[in-house]
Amino acid sequence: MLCKLLSFTNSFKPSSIEDCASALLKGDLAALPTETVYGLASLALDEDAVSKIFRLKGRPQTNPLIVHIKDSQMASNLAFVTNYACSIFEEFWPGPITVILKKRECVPSSVCADLDTVAVRSPSHSKFREVLSLVNAPLAAPSANKSNKVSPTTAEHVFNNFGRQSPPILDGGPCSFGLESTVLDLSGNSPAILRPGPINLTQIENCLNTPISINYKTKSDANSAQISPGQFHKHYSPETPLILMDNFEELKSSKLNSESDLILCMNSIDSNYFQSLNFSTLKLSNSGNPNEVAFNLYASLITADSFKKNRIITYKIHQMSEISSAINDRLTRSASK
Ligand code: TXA
Ligand code: MG
Repeated sequence: MLCKLLSFTNSFKPSSIEDCASALLKGDLAALPTETVYGLASLALDEDAVSKIFRLKGRPQTNPLIVHIKDSQMASNLAFVTNYACSIFEEFWPGPITVILKKRECVPSSVCADLDTVAVRSPSHSKFREVLSLVNAPLAAPSANKSNKVSPTTAEHVFNNFGRQSPPILDGGPCSFGLESTVLDLSGNSPAILRPGPINLTQIENCLNTPISINYKTKSDANSAQISPGQFHKHYSPETPLILMDNFEELKSSKLNSESDLILCMNSIDSNYFQSLNFSTLKLSNSGNPNEVAFNLYASLITADSFKKNRIITYKIHQMSEISSAINDRLTRSASK
C-alpha cells in the first residue's frame, strides 16, 4: 500500500494551460514546452518569482535569463530595439533565435545578471504562446533542468530533474528542434553569435547583410576564459563521462572496451559496425539526418546514462546542415571536464 502511494506521488502528472498560467500569475513557477527545449518559467518583471528559478535550478546568479515574449511590440517595452533586431524579428520570429539588446529600466537586474542588456525571444510553440496570452506578461525561462545537466526535451525529463519539487508541468510533446535557441548579440557595435542553435550563421548573415562574428568556444579547452556571461564551458552533461572523437575513423582506431563503453552513433551503419563487435550502442538517427540527430540528442544522452557504463563515446557530426554546428557545440560542452 505504502509502495503504491509512494509510486503515485513520484509519478509525473501533467498540468493544464490554465493551471500553469494561474501559478505564474501568483508568482510561482511553471514548466512549459517550447520548440527548442522545455523552459522553467516565471513572471520576468517580478524579482521574487525570478529568484525561485535560480533556487530550483541551482543556477548561479551570474548567468542571465532569456525573457520570452509574444511579439516584437513586447520586445520594445523591455529593450531598445535596433534596425538589425527588427530584421531578425521579421524573418525568424516566432522561432528559435534569442536576441541580446540594451535593456530598459523595467527589467530587473536579477534577470540580466546586473548587465545593461536583456535577452529576448518569441517562442513558436502553440502551448507556450497560449500561456503567454493568458498571462499577458513577459516570462523569464531558462531550460527546465538542474544547472549544468542535460536540457529536457520532454515533460517527463523535466519531472525527472525536479521530482517532487516540480512546478506544474505543461506537456507539449517532444520539442521539435531539441536544441536551445541561437543567441545573437545585437547590443554592441557588431553582431555576434554567443550560442549556435537552429538558426545558423549563414541565415543570420543573409538576413542582416553583414558579417557576423562567432563569440563561443569551439574547442573543449576548459582553461580558456569564459567569453560571455553564462557561457560556462561545461554544460549539458550526462552523469557518465562523455568522450568526443573528431570523427568515426578516429573512434574506430581508438582503444575501446566492449564491456564498459557505450557507443553513441550518428546513424545505423556506424551502430551496426559496433554492434557486430559486441558493443552496447545507441543511435541518434537511422540515416544520420542532422535534424533527427538534434531532435534525439538530449533524450539519448539521458538514456545513455541509464546503461551505467564507465564511458559514453561519440564523435562529431560532419554532415553539413543548418543545425550541425549547434550539435557539435553541445557535444563539445557535454564532453568538457
Ligand atoms: O531555447 C532556449 O533558448 C531555451 C528555451 C527555454 O527558450 N532557453 C534556454 O535558456 O536555453 P538558458 O538559460 O538555458 O540559456 C540562456 C543563454 C545563456 O547562455 C545565457 O548566458 C544567455 O542566454 N544570455 C541571457 N541573457 C544574456 C545577456 N544579457 N547577455 C549575454 N548572454 C545572455
Ligand atoms: Mg540551459
